Amino acid sequence: MDNLLLKIDQYKTEISNFTASDGETAEAFRIKYLGTKGLVKELMGEMRNVAPENKKSFGQVMNEFKVFAEAKYEALKGAENSNGKAAADELDLSLPADPLPLGSRHPISLVRNRMVSIFQRLGFAVAEGPEIEDDWHNFTALNLPENHPARDMQDTFYISQNPDWLLRTHTSSVQVREMEKGKLPIRIICPGRVYRNETISARAHCFFHQVEGLYIAENVSFADLKQTLYFFVQEMFGKEVKIRFRPSYFPFTEPSAEMDISCLICGGPGCSVCKHTGWVEILGCGMVHPNLLDNCGIDSNKYTGFAFGMGVERITMLKYQIKDLRLFSENDVRFLKQFTSAV
Ligand code: PHE
Repeated sequence: MDNLLLKIDQYKTEISNFTASDGETAEAFRIKYLGTKGLVKELMGEMRNVAPENKKSFGQVMNEFKVFAEAKYEALKGAENSNGKAAADELDLSLPADPLPLGSRHPISLVRNRMVSIFQRLGFAVAEGPEIEDDWHNFTALNLPENHPARDMQDTFYISQNPDWLLRTHTSSVQVREMEKGKLPIRIICPGRVYRNETISARAHCFFHQVEGLYIAENVSFADLKQTLYFFVQEMFGKEVKIRFRPSYFPFTEPSAEMDISCLICGGPGCSVCKHTGWVEILGCGMVHPNLLDNCGIDSNKYTGFAFGMGVERITMLKYQIKDLRLFSENDVRFLKQFTSAV
């Protein structure tokens, strides 16, 4: 026992004289004194050789020794940290940082965000809805009942679990959902992904993105529609771009129109991009058909509205002269990298 006490005293002196010279010293100390094979553990093991009447006092000495070693370890660690801090103060913060491999927004997201912000400035709010829709919201409520021939242009994918479920073909379904809420006036844009059963080519894909718009209030006229879209085109493509409307057909609008913009490449005289017409089509639009209002419980004698819908891919292709739609979903970094500072 006396031997042991002597040893402990020696270790205490050793510990007191221990100084931290570098970052690894504290860890070396911990391993030597406090580790699983350290001196504190080893001395504790001596307990079984101590005479029973001395066990209690030896236990006390050992505890004290352990606390002493632990306190020293904490002190060493503290010293190491403050040394570390001193080193941080010497960092030259004016040096350029290591480059971080940052990604960039997808061109479709960039253009969608730009479109959304243009319409937001006109007071349109963003509305979103499910991509898996039911027949009512995607077709029937939009004046496209079963067996309507116009369904042919929007063939889609059906969910085998339930024949009533399908992947939405346009975000007009979100407009129906908003109209059903019955809160008027409505002034919304509906950005989102849509699906169609089409053969994939440079100009068509089985999924793409749309921004559709809807404005319903009292006395909304075709002139409001024209001015809204004119503002959009000027903000999106520039002040010199012209627009024109051609009569068209959509079951959900009456009258309906397609809107063209003057060709961004040749500016009018004709080139291969505009197929020598000077114009390129960008969207469909019209005055909301009264049947839609009635379907959604809105008084069609009191309210009128306009709606429009366009493909984000198409706008993006025109804006950046991209010739193939498939590039958007191929994940080729060489293509995507070109848009880091765009829009
Ligand atoms: N929903 C139509 C489409 O996807 C676009 C459209 C919207 C046309 C609103 C007219 C009015 O093709």
